[in-house]
Amino acid sequence: MKTALVTGVTGQDGSYLAELLLNQGYRVIGMVRRTSSINYDRLRHIQDKIEIAQGDLLDQMSLIGILQEYRPQEVYNLAAQSFVPTSFTQPVLTGEYTALGVTRVLEAIRIVDPAIRFYQASSSEMFGKVMEVPQRETTHFYPRSPYGVAKVYGHWITVNYRESYNIFGVSGILFNHESPRRGLEFVTHKITHAVARIKLGLADELRLGNLEARRDWGYAGDYVRAMWLMLQQDAPDDFVIATGETHSVQQFVEEAFGYVDLDWRQYVKQDPKFYRPAEVDLLVGDATKAGRKLGWEPTVDFRALVRLMIDADLKLLQNPNHGYPPIAEEIKTQAGKSQGTGKP
Ligand code: NAP
Ligand code: GDD
Repeated sequence: MKTALVTGVTGQDGSYLAELLLNQGYRVIGMVRRTSSINYDRLRHIQDKIEIAQGDLLDQMSLIGILQEYRPQEVYNLAAQSFVPTSFTQPVLTGEYTALGVTRVLEAIRIVDPAIRFYQASSSEMFGKVMEVPQRETTHFYPRSPYGVAKVYGHWITVNYRESYNIFGVSGILFNHESPRRGLEFVTHKITHAVARIKLGLADELRLGNLEARRDWGYAGDYVRAMWLMLQQDAPDDFVIATGETHSVQQFVEEAFGYVDLDWRQYVKQDPKFYRPAEVDLLVGDATKAGRKLGWEPTVDFRALVRLMIDADLKLLQNPNHGYPPIAEEIKTQAGKSQGTGKP
């Protein structure tokens, strides 16, 4: 039985990845930082199957201690300050977590067991003001936020430890991926949650920022499969993971309100508060290399993604104790709907 350590296990991706690894027969160690109240909501359905280890990306010794105690063969570094607006208001802290935190994990690996395979959660935010359309592994980076800058550091330090110490380190350059477990401050879940609340008569408006920005949105359950595949290869390499389709925030809004037969113009207000000091206008990825070398491809398209998020929000709002279903159930409920009208 292989052992995997997942940092950021309480986050969106951490919960999906932990689930996938358990299904693959792994012993899963989830690293959590100490908080005054427990935030394991996304893990509720698998909590008794994973082991929790307390550690923090800011604390070098805690990382070394966890590796010494659990001796994982694979480490997935998903922990980060991942919200772009917060990186503008807390740029130094974002650098500590999202940039230097990667070095701390790599140092722990170098010291404890350099044979550990390491996955770094890199981001399409590194492409920022894009130099090429679509973006691929060879596209130059031009980050547009302290978060993007920190991720560029995380990417290059991973490459550097691979080249300097022969560590099996890979950088997965993932484009935006969403799900019912997405944080509510990210635009997709902010939209689907508001749509569900409006539909149920619990809210009457949705305030958003820039509706023109375009993103390549995929489904998180598909993207964690790519992370795992990257660590199963013969040699370490970097991969772009994306759907190859781009949509504007406004298109997401239209699709979401349309699904529940509401006219978005009656509810959406633009609010300068949600604009960013510098914006990433357009992201669209080319995942050809991942298709060829990993055999990876997305299974959930844009429309199905919007719908499965709204379905889940409606269900949770109507029954808050329901919790998140496992991946298979989440996909099953939307499968088939993407073809027909499939209204809720
Ligand atoms: P998320 O939901 O924001 O989760 C972030 C996780 O990091 C949480 O578990 C959080 O713990 C943990 N964390 C933050 N600071 C920490 C620290 N100092 N020590 C230990 N843990 C800490 O993010 P996500 O969407 O799952 O994304 C996972 C990773 O992929 C992140 O690195 C993100 O930047 C990157 N990424 C995400 C996307 C995307 O579209 N989702 C795309 C590309 C890259 P708490 O629960 O205690 O806050
Ligand atoms: N959050 C948010 N809230 N975004 C809004 C809003 C709003 O009210 N209105 C418009 N937007 C626009 C943002 O300006 C941005 O262009 C786009 O919606 C997407 O914003 P987010 O959902 O916050 O995601 P992100 O693209 O900035 O970052 C996410 O994806 C990255 C990968 O490209 C995060 O998950 C990052 O951690 C990840 O690396």
